[in-house]
Amino acid sequence: MDIKIKGTGSAVPKLRVTNDDLSRLMDTSDEWIRTRTGIEARHLAVEETTTGLAVEAAGQALENAGLKPEELDIIIAASVTADKLLPNLSCEVQSALGASNAVAFDINAACSGFLFALNTARMYLAGGNYRNALVIGAETLSKIMDWTDRRTCVLFGDGAGAAVVTAEESSAEKGGIISMLQGSDGARGMVLNCNNRPVNNPFVKNDASLSYVFMNGQEVYKFAVKTVPEAIREVVEQSGFSMDEIDWFILHQANLRIIESVAKRLHQPMEKFPTNLQECGNISAASVPILLDSVNKRGMIKKGDKIVLAGFGAGLTWGATVLVW
Ligand code: UT7
Repeated sequence: MDIKIKGTGSAVPKLRVTNDDLSRLMDTSDEWIRTRTGIEARHLAVEETTTGLAVEAAGQALENAGLKPEELDIIIAASVTADKLLPNLSCEVQSALGASNAVAFDINAACSGFLFALNTARMYLAGGNYRNALVIGAETLSKIMDWTDRRTCVLFGDGAGAAVVTAEESSAEKGGIISMLQGSDGARGMVLNCNNRPVNNPFVKNDASLSYVFMNGQEVYKFAVKTVPEAIREVVEQSGFSMDEIDWFILHQANLRIIESVAKRLHQPMEKFPTNLQECGNISAASVPILLDSVNKRGMIKKGDKIVLAGFGAGLTWGATVLVW
C-alpha cells in the first residue's frame, strides 16, 4: 500500500494582530519578538472556534483531494484547545461535514499532534480496512494563554490545517509516506504545561480557577535544537534517501532561530525550510498542516518531491516523517 497525502487545506481567523498591537497591551516590543522568534504577527479568534476553523480547513482538503465527505473512513483531529471536552473535535467535524461513514477521534500530543495523528491514520490505512482518512491539526491557543505573561502569549496564534490521506495500491515508484517516527519524554513534561483540570468535587478543597500555559522557553529551546535534528536524521536514514535528496523540510513553526539551527545542524540550506511563523506565530498542532497547505497551494511542491515533516512540543513529544509527494 502507498499511503499518500491527496489534499490539503487551512484556515486562520480574520483578526491579524501585529507585534506593535501587542506592545500597546503589554510591556513588549516588535524588536524583541522579531529578533528572538521571527514572529511578526498572528491571527487570533474572535468569532471563530476551533471546530469552525477545523471544518473550513477540512472542507478545503476534501475539495483539493477530490473526495466527498461520505467517502471518509476516519477523521483524526489533533488539538489541545478543542471547544468542548465532549463530544470530541473530530465528531464535531464529522457532523459539520456530513462524513457519516467515518470513525472519528482526537489525539493530544500538543505541537507534535499532527504528526502523531498522521502516523495513526497511516497505520489504520496500512491495516487494509480503511481507505480515506482526514487528519486535522486545529487550535485556538489564545484561550489558554495568560495574557499578562509576555514570555508566552506573544508567541502563539490560532488556526487549523488539514490533510486528506488515502491508501492506494503500491506503484513501482516509491510514493507517499516512506518512514515515520514518534518520541515522548514525559519526565520533562513540566517545562511546557497547562494544568487546566484540577480535581474538583464536593470532597476536595482547591482553587479550581483555570490555569494557563506555562513554558520554560530556554529548556524547550534546548530540547528542540537537539531532538529535532536527531529525529530528522533518523527518519531520513530509515527512508533510504540521503539528507541532500530531501527537497523540503516542513517544521513546526515555533521559532525561526530553532529552524535555522536545525538547518545548520543538518547542513541544509534555509531555502529548503519554508516558514510562515512570521504571519502565524506558533499554532501548535496546526502549524505543520497550515504550512504544508500553503506550500502546496503556492505550487511549490512538485510530484516526486521528497518532504520531511517534523513536529515537537509539550509532553515532551516529537514526531517526524519522510514522504514522497
Ligand atoms: O511549540 C512549543 C515549542 N516551543 C518552543 O519551541 C519555544 C522555545 N523557546 C524559545 O523560542 C525562546 O526561549 C523564547 C522565544 C520563548 C524566549 O527567548 P529567550 O532568548 O530564551 O529569552 P528569555 O526567556 O531568556 O528572556 C530574555 C529576556 C528576559 O529579561 P531579563 O530577565 O533578561 O531582564 C525576559 O523577561 O527577555 C524578557 N522577555 C521579554 N521582553 C520583551 C521575555 N519575553 C519578552 C517579551 N517582550 N515578550
